[in-house]
Amino acid sequence: MKPKAPSAARAGLSRPDKKTPKRAFGQAHDAARKESNASKEATSRACASALLAATLLRRRPFDEAWAHALNDREGCLVRLSPRDRAFARLLAMTVLRRLIEIDVALEPWLARPPAQPLRNILRLGAAQLLFLGTPAHAAVAETVALAGASPKARGLVNAVLRNLARARSSGETSGLGLAETAKINTPRWLMSSWVKAYGEVKARLVAEANLTEAPLDLTVKGGPAEQRFWAERLGGAVLPNGSLRLTASGPIERLAGFDTGAWWVQDAAAAMPARLFANVEGLHIVDLCAAPGGKTAQLAAMGARVTAVEKNQDRLERMATNLKRLGLEATLVQADAAAWRPKELMDGVLLDAPCTATGTIRRHPDILHSKTPKDVAAAARLQDRLLGAAWRFLKPNGLLIYATCSLQPEENEQRIDALAAARAPLRRVPIRAEEIGAPEAAITPLGDLRTLPCFWRERGGMDGFYACRLRRF
Ligand SMILES: C[S@@+](CC[C@H](N)C(=O)[O-])C[C@H]1O[C@@H](n2cnc3c(N)ncnc32)[C@H](O)[C@@H]1O
Repeated sequence: MKPKAPSAARAGLSRPDKKTPKRAFGQAHDAARKESNASKEATSRACASALLAATLLRRRPFDEAWAHALNDREGCLVRLSPRDRAFARLLAMTVLRRLIEIDVALEPWLARPPAQPLRNILRLGAAQLLFLGTPAHAAVAETVALAGASPKARGLVNAVLRNLARARSSGETSGLGLAETAKINTPRWLMSSWVKAYGEVKARLVAEANLTEAPLDLTVKGGPAEQRFWAERLGGAVLPNGSLRLTASGPIERLAGFDTGAWWVQDAAAAMPARLFANVEGLHIVDLCAAPGGKTAQLAAMGARVTAVEKNQDRLERMATNLKRLGLEATLVQADAAAWRPKELMDGVLLDAPCTATGTIRRHPDILHSKTPKDVAAAARLQDRLLGAAWRFLKPNGLLIYATCSLQPEENEQRIDALAAARAPLRRVPIRAEEIGAPEAAITPLGDLRTLPCFWRERGGMDGFYACRLRRF
């Protein structure tokens, strides 16, 4: 097969499939089931293919697809060992993280992009060859097995992957540099929004940080002594904000301290907004949009009386389970936070608003392909509605903390500007880095918190979080 010239210029246009053919998902699932009789590795590859179909074709968030596959007794994930599950996850996540780069690498060997599920199968093969160090013969053979019984499909996968493997090993196609790789894998609209908000250099560093999976951070119940204890016990390091960063990996439930509720999973940056209340002992705080409950747990552990409002019943139930494991208490309310009314005015309101989550791409690379500027605008409308309700729940002098894990200014400082323009009786209380152990660079000129995934780079980065602290007058 003669290679076509790769068209990097077209890379930015190469989007995941817009159509959502349910049949393709079904086929991938069938393939996954058939694979259960084959080798274990082939089964994890079939699961990865089913996960990609759910995410890229049915537009389901990856975490949701993963949870569904885990709970589906007929599904492929339940039959895998923890090690093979981890491989399936790594494979699917690598494709999502490097999707555009993979499509560019495959392009010279294809007359046109093949139909699904073949396209995703080729992407999985390419991810193994290009990024996961799988020996070429194994990557090709196992990926051909995924293509089913059709000789045509098997022939195509075999030819394309062999060509790609040969070109890569002979240096015909050399890998891109880090900056170019980061840029090519970031949709154009997103990259330009970051350049506009943070400048060229920071935007590039954010995109580079998104190429790497995020480390596992825990929030420990208790103070510095407990943090040191669990750092030693679990083999991790205490970060400047008190979060614990682990080097070990594996199922969370198997880690010491899980059963006894000594800690919960929470990125270091996500742990910062709740600490902006400072001393909450005995205060009544409402946590709006509260599930899965990381911030409610922090507030309850700090001695606050917490009312947690969450719209999604399933997520609220998961939150109740989490709090029970942690031995922490909060009053849980299922309601739309914009329509809910408290029985009394609050000492504090935490609004960790639903958002496009573009600060968490390291953990959720599917966001690169699922979110568009329209989602940013829709999130901003919802955030205005929630903010418009939230400040009215406060006593005079009470504090409102507004937070999101989005990097888009439209969902952050621009929402605070809109609140000021609507003459809400609120005054910014500037945040100081040392209050919450944040990097100095994370404090904006107005005194808001703005973390970026490239901060604490040498330690493994952090999620992109925004927080603003306002006092009611
Ligand atoms: C960013 S997550 C919150 C994370 C949470 N604060 C934590 O720290 O674990 C946003 C949550 O808002 C919920 N949500 C979305 N719209 C809502 C609404 N109108 N009222 C209440 N909750 C809402 C979502 O279901 C989701 O659980």
